[in-house]
Amino acid sequence: MPTISTVTLNDGATFPELGLGTYNLREEEGTDAIVAAISTGYRLLDSAVNYENEAEVGAAVRRAGDELGVARDELLVTTKLPGRDHGYDSAMASAERSLATLGLDRIDLYLIHWPNPSVDKYVETWQAMIALREGGIVGSIGVSNFTEAMLTRLIDETGVTPAVNQVELHPYFPQGQLRAFHREHGIRSESWSPLARRSELLKEPVIGEIAAAQGVSPTQVVLRWHVQLGSTPIPKSADPARQVENADVFGFSLTDDQVAAISGLERGRLWGGDPDTHEEM
Ligand SMILES: NC(=O)c1ccc[n+]([C@@H]2O[C@H](COP(=O)([O-])OP(=O)(O)OC[C@H]3O[C@@H](n4cnc5c(N)ncnc54)[C@H](OP(=O)(O)O)[C@@H]3O)[C@@H](O)[C@H]2O)c1
Repeated sequence: MPTISTVTLNDGATFPELGLGTYNLREEEGTDAIVAAISTGYRLLDSAVNYENEAEVGAAVRRAGDELGVARDELLVTTKLPGRDHGYDSAMASAERSLATLGLDRIDLYLIHWPNPSVDKYVETWQAMIALREGGIVGSIGVSNFTEAMLTRLIDETGVTPAVNQVELHPYFPQGQLRAFHREHGIRSESWSPLARRSELLKEPVIGEIAAAQGVSPTQVVLRWHVQLGSTPIPKSADPARQVENADVFGFSLTDDQVAAISGLERGRLWGGDPDTHEEM
């Protein structure tokens, strides 16, 4: 299987072009699934306080070292600060709790999970993220589910541009305008629910036709589309064979017409997660 390619973030860190989603990967089974993904070549692991699986992700990182010889420094562990911990002091304490639960001494990518605009503490929270990075216990800092206006506010009020914005992004919701903003400001796009949680996406005729023409699976077509858009997809799979399939998208290329045809499936958000109104604690 070709290796997962990397890009460089605006803070100089190396960042994979594809990672592993871990929502619902819990308990020993969850850890086993994450270790399987690491053995396949995944290096970027996506977690969050609210997935209640930081312990499993940390355990997988330690097992990868012991059982697979994959050094800690080769792996990028992401976790996300929950809405209930917004605010400077609360964010600092939340990071310490995440480190303790992960059982690690560093969070490689730390994201504000949701902006929660009615609480209006995401700028203060961002200031804590900056301090955490300066303190060395966090590698890169970024956000999730931020709009252009919210990103602009962070940049204007702190002078620090997020390295990553992880957002809902899949062929039904390609986020063209937000991606253009990210490009302009050197923010890496990261796609959550890149397969649209499977839904009917993988059965779309246009995806099937491109898959047949390329000699790959519909899932690989969709994940390659993310890579070519310049957004890192983090497909979640508990199944080792599907994990291999999902990561094996660096040995072929879609044509510009194929990319455009897939983007033509656009119809909007699938789960009502509009960051201006949807809030999570
Ligand atoms: N920042 C945020 O607010 C936010 C929100 C949602 C999600 N996320 C992150 O994004 C990650 C991915 O999103 P997601 O889990 O919602 O959805 P997803 O990755 O789009 O889809 C996952 C679903 O697709 C199935 N699947 C995976 N590979 C497949 C394949 N090759 N063929 C057929 N089915 C396949 C999985 O089942 P199996 O496991 O059985 O393979 C699972 O049911 C999450 O795990 C989480 O880390 C972040």
